[in-house]
Amino acid sequence: MGEVNNNIVWHETKVNRENREKLLDQKGVVLWFTGLSGSGKSTVATALEKRLNEKGKLTYILDGDNIRHGLSANLGFSDEDRVENIRRIGEVSKLFVDTGVITIVTFISPFRAERAKIRELLGKDFIEVYIDCPIEVCEERDPKGIYKKARNGEIKNFTGIDSSYEAPLDPEITLQTYLKSIDDCADQVISYLEKRG
Ligand code: ADX
Repeated sequence: MGEVNNNIVWHETKVNRENREKLLDQKGVVLWFTGLSGSGKSTVATALEKRLNEKGKLTYILDGDNIRHGLSANLGFSDEDRVENIRRIGEVSKLFVDTGVITIVTFISPFRAERAKIRELLGKDFIEVYIDCPIEVCEERDPKGIYKKARNGEIKNFTGIDSSYEAPLDPEITLQTYLKSIDDCADQVISYLEKRG
């Protein structure tokens, strides 16, 4: 890491979040999806984004697997790297929410302390969405064949196997993807957003 440079000052702009939100006729918000690999984060996010798009809302999905191809390409799955991964995405989602975009973040984000930091960073803009699905079901689904590899010892530090997952204690929304359809889960988020205005 480079040295911290203290000779930088925040630059004020003439167009602010309020102007952008007015332009878009919507409010920026971060829907932070957390859950095990295979729990359905990306699947629900995709269905939800489609719905919001049809309602004329501007959205963007920041997806764990995709971000790890670019912005976080230099990070692995040690605790330290996951902490840095989540820190980066927290900062990126702060920029996105300032543009007025409905930002859907889909990362395992396994650690409570790191999610708490993002909540502090984003305040009322942070909506924690727990994608609740027992590991047995995730492992049964295993869409990427990744649990199999983890069980064979081909992948180390795998979440839920030899790396921990700390479920949220008080999330704004819990989606039980093992009990409900993807559409019902997406509906549940939409109703929440509508209730919040
Ligand atoms: S996080 O812990 O840093 O939030 P992230 O969501 O970016 O994880 O990446 C998870 C994705 O990486 C999983 O969907 C899975 O496909 C893949 N992956 C590869 N190795 C691991 C691992 N050791 N633990 C969890 N997921 C892994």
